[in-house]
Amino acid sequence: MKMKLLTNCLITGLVIVVLSCNKKGTTIDPCASINYTITYSKTESVGTSNNGTITIQAPRGDTINYSLNSGSFQSSWYFTNLAPGNYVVTIKNQKGCTDTAQIIILNYGPKYALVKQIILGYCGPCHLNGGNDGGRNYDTDANIVAAKNVIKTRTVDGIPSFMPQAPNSPLSSVDKQKIVDWINAGGTTSN
Ligand code: HEC
Repeated sequence: MKMKLLTNCLITGLVIVVLSCNKKGTTIDPCASINYTITYSKTESVGTSNNGTITIQAPRGDTINYSLNSGSFQSSWYFTNLAPGNYVVTIKNQKGCTDTAQIIILNYGPKYALVKQIILGYCGPCHLNGGNDGGRNYDTDANIVAAKNVIKTRTVDGIPSFMPQAPNSPLSSVDKQKIVDWINAGGTTSN
């Protein structure tokens, strides 16, 4: 009787050890404490050239690798020659922990791409990164398209004046023409 109890005890003990081992194996996740915030910049694809780019700004470092749409992992945080579309960038650290970011590469028309360059180059900080001088913010394509006529009036025609404080005002005649050509072609992001 005594022996039998002892045998039962041992068996129970063994079962408990095995179970707790398994539990330990599944609950201790080496990636649990790792939480990346992925930040990136991108440039859109222009016309039919499939020349979009994605630049992962963080995380970076010797132990971080990057993959685009389940492609092989690479150490470079820069992806080029991208067609318009939806992308998933996966980052992986030395422990195999991964995180993903969804990124959309848009398709810009060639004329709009030139205008966007002018805006990004010359209209900040006053109208970019939240800047809203004169009630105008140009962070989104929708805002730029909606404002195209007043953009032309103030930067091409100078009516009632060119922007007095802006360092590149008035724009060069080449840049003014880019705005005119874009609006004449339709003034959307695909023109
Ligand atoms: C240094 C700051 C600064 C820069 C750079 C600047 N602006 Fe402005 N912008 C202003 C201010 C301030 C106003 C409001 C006063 C006024 O209308 O002159 C304004 C007003 C405007 C308006 C008129 C809004 C309206 O509803 O009448 C337009 C359009 C505009 N900016 C477009 C542009 C564009 C396009 C660029 C770049 C090519 C640019 N601005 C660069 C400061 C700036």
